[in-house]
Amino acid sequence: MKTTPTLEVRNLCKTFAGKAGLLRSGRRARVVTDVSFRIGQGEIFGLVGESGSGKSTIGRTILRLLEPDSGEILFGGRDITGLSAADLRKLRRHMQIIFQDPFSSLDPRVRVGEVLAEPIRLHRLREGHAVEARVDELLRIVGLAPHHKGRYPHEFSGGQRQRIAIARALAVEPALIVCDEAVSALDVSIQAQVLNLLARLRAELGVSYLFISHDMSVVRHISDRVGVLYAGRLVETGSVEAVFERPSHPYTRMLLAATPSLGGRRGSGSGPDIEGSPPGPFEPIPGCAFASRCPHATETCLAASPPLDTFREGDHMAACWHAETLPPFQAEGEAVMSDAFERRMALLRRARAGAET
Ligand SMILES: Nc1ncnc2c1ncn2[C@@H]1O[C@H](COP(=O)(O)OP(=O)(O)O)[C@@H](O)[C@H]1O
Ligand SMILES: [Mg+2]
Repeated sequence: MKTTPTLEVRNLCKTFAGKAGLLRSGRRARVVTDVSFRIGQGEIFGLVGESGSGKSTIGRTILRLLEPDSGEILFGGRDITGLSAADLRKLRRHMQIIFQDPFSSLDPRVRVGEVLAEPIRLHRLREGHAVEARVDELLRIVGLAPHHKGRYPHEFSGGQRQRIAIARALAVEPALIVCDEAVSALDVSIQAQVLNLLARLRAELGVSYLFISHDMSVVRHISDRVGVLYAGRLVETGSVEAVFERPSHPYTRMLLAATPSLGGRRGSGSGPDIEGSPPGPFEPIPGCAFASRCPHATETCLAASPPLDTFREGDHMAACWHAETLPPFQAEGEAVMSDAFERRMALLRRARAGAET
């Protein structure tokens, strides 16, 4: 059975104006380049990448909190890129967002009962006593109790506040929830609880998620399908099994080799460390954006940028000219490969120094 995807993003591009004074006027920072993916009904799509790779920009552009430069965003099969402000307001009910910091997303002066009742009334989803009953129901759905209604956000722990944020998103019965680093500020044990709650809600309510995180293990835990983002481009997409067990882009492989397994220690704030840094948003990129960090890069990679479907096996795709001929993935082997990368960089530095003297 083929149903209309909840969300389809086609060739999304987003740039920002450079800061005045720092850069010549007219130059724009490339933040999201030609990103396409779809999220089926009741599906969890994980979007993973280093800090600064453009994940939040994609999430915010989908919600039309930011205007895309080009590309299409289809919600339930309908292109929403050209919607009027009035139509956009109606649409907002069906798409919700949950942020990393439950503190800043909840008004400290508003009691939890009112936090949840307000959107229900605003969208006229219930009336009179039914509003209160729905608030109780929402609290129960997210694992809190009706007697929590009278409390203020600061009276709750971080995990509980994130449950409130989830309940508030659910209050309007959305089809899609964008979770932007929604568990990244929580301790590992609380992270697992909130992830399990999100997974249960998907199963019970059929809601779809765009699950954004810099943390590979978290994305692996919750997602059905994933997209790996590098410097604003999708470099690999596919089912969790395909991408995590047969990673076909060297960047995905290096991320995986650098990631402790779920349940292990909590990762750093910005994701795993791999050598080098991505090209800046103003830097011209000849060929593949990852070539400057890639242990497998050749002349071919510097000549042309590989499209996402350069490697393709069903819906598993990777933007790499050499994906077909990479050795089978072994987390250990990748670590060795990064040593080789280090050695090569050292050689290059020496060669350059030699040329200068
Ligand atoms: N409003 C903005 N104006 C200019 N640059 C921005 C703006 N928002 C984000 N950026 C830049 O876009 C890049 C990607 O940011 P973001 O989408 O927040 O990445 P991520 O969520 O993956 O960490 C960063 O380099 C950031 O500085
Ligand atoms: Mg972000």
